[in-house]
Amino acid sequence: MPLNDEIDALKRELTGKLAGAADATAVKGLGADALGRKGRVRELFARLGALPAEERGAAGAALNALKPWVEDQVNARLAALGAAPGAVARDRAFDVSLPGRAPARGRYHLIYETQQAICEAFARLGFSTAYGPEIETPYYNFAALNIPIDHPSADSFDTFYTAEKTHLLRSHTSPVQVHVMEGQKPPIRVVVPGKVFRPDDVDARHMNMFFQVEGLLVDEDVSFADLKGVLHIFARQFFGDDVRMRFRPSFFPFTEPSAEVDISCIFCGGKGCNVCGTSGWLEILGSGMVHPKVLAGVGIDPEVYTGFAFGMGVERVAMLQHRVNDIRLFTENHYRFLRQF
Ligand code: DAH
Repeated sequence: MPLNDEIDALKRELTGKLAGAADATAVKGLGADALGRKGRVRELFARLGALPAEERGAAGAALNALKPWVEDQVNARLAALGAAPGAVARDRAFDVSLPGRAPARGRYHLIYETQQAICEAFARLGFSTAYGPEIETPYYNFAALNIPIDHPSADSFDTFYTAEKTHLLRSHTSPVQVHVMEGQKPPIRVVVPGKVFRPDDVDARHMNMFFQVEGLLVDEDVSFADLKGVLHIFARQFFGDDVRMRFRPSFFPFTEPSAEVDISCIFCGGKGCNVCGTSGWLEILGSGMVHPKVLAGVGIDPEVYTGFAFGMGVERVAMLQHRVNDIRLFTENHYRFLRQF
C-alpha cells in the first residue's frame, strides 16, 4: 500500500478505536501502541528510505505531522473522558531532568576592555575621564593645538571633512585637551578615550578609524620628570614590573619638548626579536610638555602653569599585549577571534 494510504488507514483506525475506548488507561494504551518504540508510526518512518527520492520529502512531511496528530487525538479523547492529558505527550514535553543549556553570554570587545583598563590605570593616579566630540571644527583639531593647517605635519591629520569644510572627523583625541582646558581651571588631570579617523591606506597596522587615549595634566610646577614618572608607573602596571622605558626626542606642534616613548620589548625583554624588529624597543605613545601657546590660547597663564600630555593608540597596546599581528582583525567581527580574549 502507498505510504499515504497507510497513513490515512492508520488515522481512520485510531479514530475508531479511540472513540470506543472507555477509560483513560485504554486511551493511553492506544496512543502508546501507535507512537511507541514498536508502534505503527515508527514502522512507517522506517519505510521512508525505500521510497524514490522525489516522493520522500512529501511522505516525510506527512509522517512528521502524524505524530502530533496522534497526540492531539489521544489528548482530545482523554479530555472528553475528563482525564488529564496523557503521557503520550511526553516526547514533546520539557524534560526537567536534563541539564540546562547555558545561554551564550555577551562580552566586551577587546578594544573597549583595553581602553577601560588604560583609563583605570590612570584613574588610580588621580586622572578622571573626559570625552569630546568625534566631529570637530578645524580650530580644535588644528589651530588650537598650534598645528598650522598648511604645514606638512598636518597632512596625516587632514582627514574627512564635511562638504563645506567647516567640520571634520577628528584625527586625534588631542582636541579634547582644549575643550577640557576651556571648561576647567588647573589643576587638571584627565584621560580622554575615543575614536579617531585618518585618511591612511588600510593595512595590517593602519585603519581609517581607531581608538586613542589622550592624557593631560596641568598644574603649577609640573616638570618633564613628572611625565616620566607617571608614564613609567602606567607602563609597569600594564606591562609588568620589569619593563623599561625610553624617551626619544620628537616633534609635535602642541608640545615642547616632545618625545616618543618606547617600552622594552615585552616579548624578548629587550634582546631583539621579530616583534620589536631586533631593536629591543616598542613604541607605544607620543608625549611632551604642553606648548605655552596651547595654554595661552585657552587663557591659562603659561608663566604660572605647566603641564604634560600624551596620546597612545589603544589597538597598538592591545596588539602588543595579546600578540595580535593584524589590526584589521578587530573590526572584522569574527566571533572565534574575538571570544579568545
Ligand atoms: N595626537 C598625537 C597623534 O595622534 C599623539 C600625541 C602626541 C598626543 C603627543 C599628545 C602628545 O597629547 O603630547 O599622533
